[in-house]
Amino acid sequence: MIFESHAHYDDKQFDSDRDKLLSSMQANGIGRIINVGSDFAACKRTAELARQYDFVYGAIGIHPSDIGDLSEEVMEWLKETANDPRIVAIGEIGLDYYWEKDPQEQNTQQYWFGRQLELAREISLPVIIHSRDAAEDTLKLMKNMHAEQIPGVIHCFSYSAGMAEEYVKMGYYIGIGGVITFKNARKLKETAAKIPLERILLETDCPYLSPEPNRGKRNSSLNLPYVVKEIAALRGITEQEVEEATWENARRLFSL
Ligand code: NI
Repeated sequence: MIFESHAHYDDKQFDSDRDKLLSSMQANGIGRIINVGSDFAACKRTAELARQYDFVYGAIGIHPSDIGDLSEEVMEWLKETANDPRIVAIGEIGLDYYWEKDPQEQNTQQYWFGRQLELAREISLPVIIHSRDAAEDTLKLMKNMHAEQIPGVIHCFSYSAGMAEEYVKMGYYIGIGGVITFKNARKLKETAAKIPLERILLETDCPYLSPEPNRGKRNSSLNLPYVVKEIAALRGITEQEVEEATWENARRLFSL
C-alpha cells in the first residue's frame, strides 16, 4: 500500500468526481492520504474530508501565498480545530519567494511561518513545510526557532541534495512527488538516491505536478506508482521496498 502524504482533494478541480475518485483509492493501492490545507477555506474543507473518509487525514495551516487569510482569530481556529484527532499536522506553512518578490511581504511570510511553527510546537503536531525560492531564509528561520525540536517534512523538495542533508540532520523528512519523473529533475534525482530511505515520503501535491507519462494533466494519488518506480530505479531497490519504507515513515511522522 502507498501512503500519500500531500494531496489537495478540497481543490475545485475535483468537484466533478471527488467522491468517486476517493472511493476508488484503497482498491488501487492507496492506503492512506493526508489532505493538506492551503488557505482558510481549504483548511475547513480539509477538516470535513478527514471526517468523511476513514483513510483520509487532515493537515491544517495557511500557505505563505495565502497569509492574507491569517489573523489572531484564524490562529485560534487552527488551534481549536487541530484538537480533532483526524487532524495530524500543521501545514502547509513556510515561505514562497517565487510568487512574492516584495521584501516587506516576505517579512510578513516569515512572521506567520514562525507563528505557525510555534503553534505546532505548542500542540505537539508535526509540520508540513512549503519552501520555494527561499532556501536560505527557510533554513535560517528554522534553525533560529529550533525547528529540529518539531517533527516535519519539507514537501515537494526542490533544493540541492546538500540542502536535503541539512534537513535530514535536523530530523526532517523529504517529500518527493511527480517532479522526480521529469527528465530535467537532476537535483531531485540525486537527492532521492542519496538521502536515507527512512527519510523519504511519497506525495503528489495533486491536482498539481502530475508525473510522466501524465505530465500536464490533473494529478491524483493514483499516479504515485510512477514516483515509486522512479525512486526504486534510482536507488536500485524494489518498488515494494519503497512502498513499505515510505509507509512506515509517514506512520512514524504523523503518529498513525
Ligand atoms: Ni501543496
